[in-house]
Amino acid sequence: MLPVKNNIFWVGQVDWGLRTFHGNEYSTHRGSSYNSYLVRDKKTVLIDTVWQPFARQWADRLAAAMDLKSISAVVANHGEIDHSGGLEELLERIPGTPVYCTANAVKSLRGHYHRDWNFQVVKTGDRLSLGSQELIFVEAPMLHWPDSMMTYLSGEAVLFSNDAFGQHYASELLFNDRVDRAELYQEAIKYYANILTPFSPLVTKKIQELLALKLPLEAICPSHGIIWRDNPAQIVETYLRWADSYRENQVTLVFDTMWDGTRRLAEEIARGLHEADPKVTLKIFNRGRSDKNDIITEIFRSKAVLFGSSTINRGILTSMAGLLEEVKGLGFKGKKAAAFGCYGWSGESVKILNEGLKAAGFEVVDEGFRALWNPNQEALAGAALFGKKLAALL
Ligand code: FEO
Repeated sequence: MLPVKNNIFWVGQVDWGLRTFHGNEYSTHRGSSYNSYLVRDKKTVLIDTVWQPFARQWADRLAAAMDLKSISAVVANHGEIDHSGGLEELLERIPGTPVYCTANAVKSLRGHYHRDWNFQVVKTGDRLSLGSQELIFVEAPMLHWPDSMMTYLSGEAVLFSNDAFGQHYASELLFNDRVDRAELYQEAIKYYANILTPFSPLVTKKIQELLALKLPLEAICPSHGIIWRDNPAQIVETYLRWADSYRENQVTLVFDTMWDGTRRLAEEIARGLHEADPKVTLKIFNRGRSDKNDIITEIFRSKAVLFGSSTINRGILTSMAGLLEEVKGLGFKGKKAAAFGCYGWSGESVKILNEGLKAAGFEVVDEGFRALWNPNQEALAGAALFGKKLAALL
């Protein structure tokens, strides 16, 4: 039980060993944490629990630190099992304890656990008095699932934001002023890019709604990663920037290649682009060998992407097809794109990449660059020229 602020305690689980999340959809190079919080006032309330595999050890640890029967209510900000996974274990020990959550969370929790717990459905603005302070509930649908909500503790001025403002970042240091800032922001932007990008308009709307309430804010306690207690507004302001078609002066080249020809094109295009625009940051990834979520993060930061693939079976390499599907789902806004690739026979890859990029919402600025067989000096020079041309278009 770690003190967060006066009568607020962190009672969660740090997961140093986690390497993928949401099944194998999201890489977690730095692990994660499942943050559960205990608020003690005249009433004691538990906010969120932990992921299922940790449920028993978490409940045992909590029971060793306190009388579980003193918990008068549980708040389930979100039904997904990384936060609700301890409910079964807990509610077997304190049956009948009310569970405060949204109407959609009841559906989610019933769907996951098939139990009829003592659900108390709340809406935005509903309050729960703890004695000297109140919990105020704020629905946050699609941040990031339809059932999500946040809970604000008056008096302490703490927002329990659930997934929003979180990071998959294991640390025992708990607070943003104690951890490495570069690591923290790397994990925060990766989290936003890969999870929250599709909901950016809702992020903006929800933050503006919260700001309009003019509530004091002394800390943001998300359900993953560290707590923002040093200038918590910094992550709110950063989210507003990220939600607004975010882009830096960066171009990311992503390719896959069969016999290295498309790799050589990528490098020559990058060389030409850099010659024409020495200030632009260029990042090059072989998709077949690179982590998908790291690439998505770099695409999120970019003003433009260049996708490359060899042609195979009149199509594109599957790693690039998977990436196209991913960026289509994320719905990036305000980014430009172009395509390139080598081919031996039919040569459809550039056309397919162009179509996929357009369908994913990118502005394709050129018909693309193709090279027959492995590129000779002339083709490499053409790739460099293509890069130079792109510098003016991106
Ligand atoms: Fe949507 Fe961290 O679960």
